[in-house]
Amino acid sequence: MIKSIAVLTSGGDAPGMNAAIRAVTRTALQMGLKVYGVHDGYLGLYKGQIEELTRRSVSEKLGAGGTFLGTARLPEFTDPEIRKVALRNLHIYEIDALIAIGGDGTYRGALALNQMGLPVVTIPGTIDNDIAGTEFTIGFDTALNTVVEAADKLRDTSSSHRRCSIIEVMGRNCGDMAVWSAIACGAEVCIAKETGFNLQDVIENIKNAAQHKRHAIVIVAEHIVDSEELAREITKATPFEARATVLGHIQRGGSPTVRDRVLASEMGVKAVYALLDGDTHHCVATNGNQVISMPIEDALNGDDTQQTLREYEVFKVLW
Ligand code: F6P
Repeated sequence: MIKSIAVLTSGGDAPGMNAAIRAVTRTALQMGLKVYGVHDGYLGLYKGQIEELTRRSVSEKLGAGGTFLGTARLPEFTDPEIRKVALRNLHIYEIDALIAIGGDGTYRGALALNQMGLPVVTIPGTIDNDIAGTEFTIGFDTALNTVVEAADKLRDTSSSHRRCSIIEVMGRNCGDMAVWSAIACGAEVCIAKETGFNLQDVIENIKNAAQHKRHAIVIVAEHIVDSEELAREITKATPFEARATVLGHIQRGGSPTVRDRVLASEMGVKAVYALLDGDTHHCVATNGNQVISMPIEDALNGDDTQQTLREYEVFKVLW
C-alpha cells in the first residue's frame, strides 16, 4: 500500500512545472499520503536531497515560472549502480512511489526505476511537446506564446526595414513549436524536421512574399539549418535583407499561461489518482481533452509526427 510519495522535476524546465508539483502535493496530502520533494531531479535523488512538503510548501507557486524544486540533466542515471543509490535514499525516507515530471529522458529514468521495483507515474513537462501519446505537454503553450510575442515584435521591425526575419525556435527533435508558432504568427515559411527543407522552395516563397509585402517571417526549428547561413542565402537571392534571431532559453522562462496552469493541475491530480489506482509504470497524457493514464513504454515507443504534420497542413493552406 502506498503511504508516502516523492515528486521531482527533471530535464529542461518548463513553465507549469510548479503548478504540477503543487497539484501532486495537495492531492496526495488530501488522500492522506506523506509527500516529499526531491531537489534537482534524479541528481538530488542520488544525493539524497529530499525534504517533506506541506500544503504551505506549495503556496504561491501556481503562477511561478521554472521549478522551485530545481532540475538537472543526469545522463549517468542509465547506470544501475547510480539508480540503486537513488532507491536506497527513497528507502531511508520510507517513500513508496515516485512522480517524475519532465520529458522523455525523465520517462526513461522513471521506467528504469520501475524495473527495479519502484511504482512510478510520470507527467509530461517539456516545452517541446515531443511526448507521444499526449496531445500536449506542460509548458508548450507558454513557450508558444513567448515565441509568438517575439515574432510579432520582429515583424514590426522587419516591416519597417523591408526585411526577412528568420526566427529559430527550440523543440529538440520535434517541430511542434515551429509549426504551431508559424500558424499563430502567419509566417511565410516553416522549416522543421517533419516538414523537410528545400532552399530553393524557401527562396521562391520569400520572393513571392516580397511582391506584395514589406516583410517575411521564416520560422526554423533548431538543429535543422544554420539560421545565419540561411539569412545570407535569402539576402543573396531575394529582394529582402534577412536577419536571424535565435530565441534560445527565453522560451523556457516566464509565468505559465492559464492553459498550462490548468493542464498541470489536472495532470498532477491524475498522477496521484493513477498511483493509488495501482498504475505502477504509467504516464499521464491528454487525449481528446481528457487526462488519461497509459504505460510509459507506449509513450516512449509511440510516434509523435502525425499531429505535427496535421498542423503543417493547416499552415500550408493558410499561407
Ligand atoms: O527539452 C527542452 C529543451 O529546451 C530543448 O528544446 C532544447 O533543445 C534543450 O532543452 C536545450 O537544453 P539545455 O537547456 O540543456 O541547453
